[in-house]
Amino acid sequence: MPALLAVEDLAISFGGLTALSGVGFAVAEGEVFGLIGPNGAGKTTVFNVVTGLYRPDRGRLTFAGADLVRLSPHRIARAGLGRTFQNTEVFRALSALDNVLVGAHASLHGGVLAAACGLAAVRREESAARTRAGALLERVGLGDVAEVAAGSLPLGSQKRLELARALAGGPRLLLLDEPAGGLNPTETRTLMELIRRLREELALTIMIVEHDMDLVMGLCDRVAVLHHGRKIAEGTPREVASDAAVIEAYLGSASDVA
Ligand SMILES: Nc1ncnc2c1ncn2[C@@H]1O[C@H](COP(=O)(O)OP(=O)(O)OP(=O)(O)O)[C@@H](O)[C@H]1O
Ligand SMILES: [Mg+2]
Repeated sequence: MPALLAVEDLAISFGGLTALSGVGFAVAEGEVFGLIGPNGAGKTTVFNVVTGLYRPDRGRLTFAGADLVRLSPHRIARAGLGRTFQNTEVFRALSALDNVLVGAHASLHGGVLAAACGLAAVRREESAARTRAGALLERVGLGDVAEVAAGSLPLGSQKRLELARALAGGPRLLLLDEPAGGLNPTETRTLMELIRRLREELALTIMIVEHDMDLVMGLCDRVAVLHHGRKIAEGTPREVASDAAVIEAYLGSASDVA
């Protein structure tokens, strides 16, 4: 099966610091692909390059066969990539519903439509977007808090809200950066179930960066391991968990890094 996302020979430095070097992997359509490694290994940087926030010094990135390098983050989102951030970044003063609408905004055509068809068409589109946003909140189990300020929701709910917001753009590939970060075991289990369900119901392809090894082992089909900006292993969760280099670099002390 051709890769949905192919990353080849990726490199980026910040000043004198090499954050990624020679990193390559391919994510197949429908797969849940994990990216793990110690703090500072370069995991978030991979997401930032793939979503166009950082331009790589070298390397190739293709999504559904199209070149992603040099596209703006906005164009990349439109192409079908959605993401969440490592530090939960909901708009705290906005309602849960409005947070999802912000995510939907990337797929609205307000400016063009307003010019071509007038305000009524824009209003209709807004109203349809609100309905879709409400349905997404239901899907992630937040239907009853749609009008509640996002900042007053518990962290587990904020994480699911971020998921709904990422889904609002209708992604084919969803990138989740530490979705279980800061969650207690019960919240983490709820989130795992949700991710599993979303993958099936929406036929999503998912990349997950995560320190919680139970989540990685429970959800991922394959995993790549980064260490100091280089890929040191790739395989099934079981394969990488028994890899000597991975144990040495990461898993031996995984309980300290989470
Ligand atoms: N914008 C930036 N400017 C300078 N250095 C950066 C920038 N982004 C990342 N880095 C550096 O690149 C390296 C990789 O960082 P990155 O955030 O990708 O690590 P990570 O694997 O996500 O770690 P963690 O598990 O702690 O989130 C780190 O040394 C980090 O300080
Ligand atoms: Mg990170």
